[in-house]
Amino acid sequence: MTLSTPHLLGIKDLRPSDIRLILDTAQQFKDVLQRPVKKVPSLRDVTIVNLFFENSTRTRISFELAEKRLSADVLNFTTSSSSVAKGETMLDTVNNILSMKVDMVVMRHSASGAPHFLAKHIPAAIVNAGDGINEHPTQALLDAFSIEEATGGLSGKKIAIIGDIMHSRVALSNIYLLTKMGAEVTVAGPPTLIPKYIKEALGVNVTYNVKEALQWCDVANVLRIQLERQSQPLFSSLREYSLAYGINRKLLDSLGKKIVIMHPGPINRGVELDSDVADSNESIILQQVENGVAVRMAVLYLLSNPDT
Ligand code: CP
Repeated sequence: MTLSTPHLLGIKDLRPSDIRLILDTAQQFKDVLQRPVKKVPSLRDVTIVNLFFENSTRTRISFELAEKRLSADVLNFTTSSSSVAKGETMLDTVNNILSMKVDMVVMRHSASGAPHFLAKHIPAAIVNAGDGINEHPTQALLDAFSIEEATGGLSGKKIAIIGDIMHSRVALSNIYLLTKMGAEVTVAGPPTLIPKYIKEALGVNVTYNVKEALQWCDVANVLRIQLERQSQPLFSSLREYSLAYGINRKLLDSLGKKIVIMHPGPINRGVELDSDVADSNESIILQQVENGVAVRMAVLYLLSNPDT
């Protein structure tokens, strides 16, 4: 079985069968990662470059570990220590790296559409590791894998995505994925952080009342406030955001039922999520990070065309 696409640019381009194939393959790699010997030879003689034009902790380390577990040769590139700082374009940078016989490119960029542009101009498989406010497909895949693990499936599940929906590539990729796989999605947060026509455009429910979303859902995926992407303030203060939209122990206990708490990280503790929620039994935040390695192994393996 192979994917219907040569790149992973976004969940928007995937069929439900592609998503199912990635999640099932990730389960096989997760089983491998439980063994004493965690390395497999699947990508031996494949060279992968991780091009990170924007900061990352989890995604960069997770891709690198996934590549090493698959026995690929790995190159790492960060803008601050490269000739991009001297004015070299992204395309020149990538073409120079590819001339050294690189097979796959994992790229994060602050510009939405940067990996799509690259895919039109270079002859290598591209994996989008987050592009601006557009998509973060491997985050949505690892979130889906973690939801299935915690709740037994995606179809019919009620997922609330809470917080800064407007600037979140995690929200958009999650909405595409969850709706394709038969889950129901509600977005919740301040009106200024929720796009106006999201209900009509993406088929999600909208509420500005976080408690209402929590009472409705099986799983709450809580997002970081992305102040770095706001050119002007969209709410009065972090303190007021926390009081109106933050998730704390008292609020969770008032629901009278247990829900699963997720967060893609990095967390603004005390803003969108209090520590006694982030570190609680309801939270699967560190399981999400663990699952990211198996999911990224699956994506890289499937894009390497294992059946050819
Ligand atoms: N979830 C996520 O993308 O985290 P990083 O920005 O640390 O990679």
